[in-house]
Amino acid sequence: MRTPTPSVYIRGLGAYAPERRLTNEEIARHVDTTDEWIRTRSGIGERRIAAPGENPSDMAVKAAEIAIARAGLTKEDIDLVICATMTPDMVIPSTACLVAAKLGLKEVPAFDVGAACSGFIYMLQVGHHMLRAGDYRNVLIVGTEKLSSFVNWQDRNTCVLFGDAAGAAVLSKCDEPYVGILGNVLGSDGSNPELLYCPAGGAARPATPETVANSEHFIRMNGKEVFKLATRVMAASCEKVLAKCGVSLDQVTCVVPHQANARIIETVAKQLNVSMDRIPINLDRYGNTSAASIPLVLEEAYREGRFKHGDYVLLVAFGAGLTWGATLIKWHDAR
Ligand code: COA
Repeated sequence: MRTPTPSVYIRGLGAYAPERRLTNEEIARHVDTTDEWIRTRSGIGERRIAAPGENPSDMAVKAAEIAIARAGLTKEDIDLVICATMTPDMVIPSTACLVAAKLGLKEVPAFDVGAACSGFIYMLQVGHHMLRAGDYRNVLIVGTEKLSSFVNWQDRNTCVLFGDAAGAAVLSKCDEPYVGILGNVLGSDGSNPELLYCPAGGAARPATPETVANSEHFIRMNGKEVFKLATRVMAASCEKVLAKCGVSLDQVTCVVPHQANARIIETVAKQLNVSMDRIPINLDRYGNTSAASIPLVLEEAYREGRFKHGDYVLLVAFGAGLTWGATLIKWHDAR
């Protein structure tokens, strides 16, 4: 497949994780679990926890500043800000508006994307098309999450899985054909939202003393069902985007999955017949950081030289909603 110019590519990547490490052993002091259970069932060894008062918008700004500098740009070059988060600073206004203001960007459009852990893949599609439509030059996309504020630290089914972080990318146009984002597939199924959700705090169930007493403002999850659905939609999304772009999996240097659970990733790798050495993993150190997860691991893999200019990189995610998606990139370094 030939994408018409302009192509849209990731010009700079940035990531930020708070300093505080929370180990499995520490969690096991408060809930009935063990380091061994968490590692064998999820692959997670530790996660990062934001400092008190450190908000998703603050983490986003740190990741964004790195991405903008690595893109060789200044903040003034950014003309659109998109944030993906399911743990916004506040319900109103959007976190993107806060990020734009903290970056000192005046009057640039800014909005949030609500696609949970698939947020980065959704933003790539939205940013791609907004750039291609011609109205923007450089789009900042940031996935940022402070899941530690939405996790019930008494619920061992969920509290062991999540962590805090932010990851950012600057998307820009270039005239070279068939580079950068080659194709994108997205999907959703909202018919069973209770698989992974926060029961209260929205308009359907505003906060009351009862919702607080029942811990309804924290994440709840049917882990087994999510596991099954995740493996199905991730493999299918990869196959679909590759077919759309006319690229085979053998040509792909790195498959970069959402970092939710090592067993989910291994199952998808088996289904696709991809060896694990082509799949970067950092969930052992960060846990599931939702919308931040893909840029966090992508940035690390790029820094470590796991892919380079001209390589095909396949990103794939799933999340609450359910939502899912995959993006095929022909990595482009502006020279
Ligand atoms: N420590 C010890 N035991 C735990 C535990 C913990 N942290 N969490 C759950 N258990 C218990 C369960 O209560 C259950 O006990 P029971 O058999 O007495 O009822 C037992 O372990 C087995 O639970 P099960 O649900 O079968 O485990 P699992 O192998 O499915 O693994 C998950 C659980 C959550 C790790 C796994 O289902 C998963 O990762 N699902 C996907 C979740 C996800 O990725 N969510 C984010 C989407 S973006």
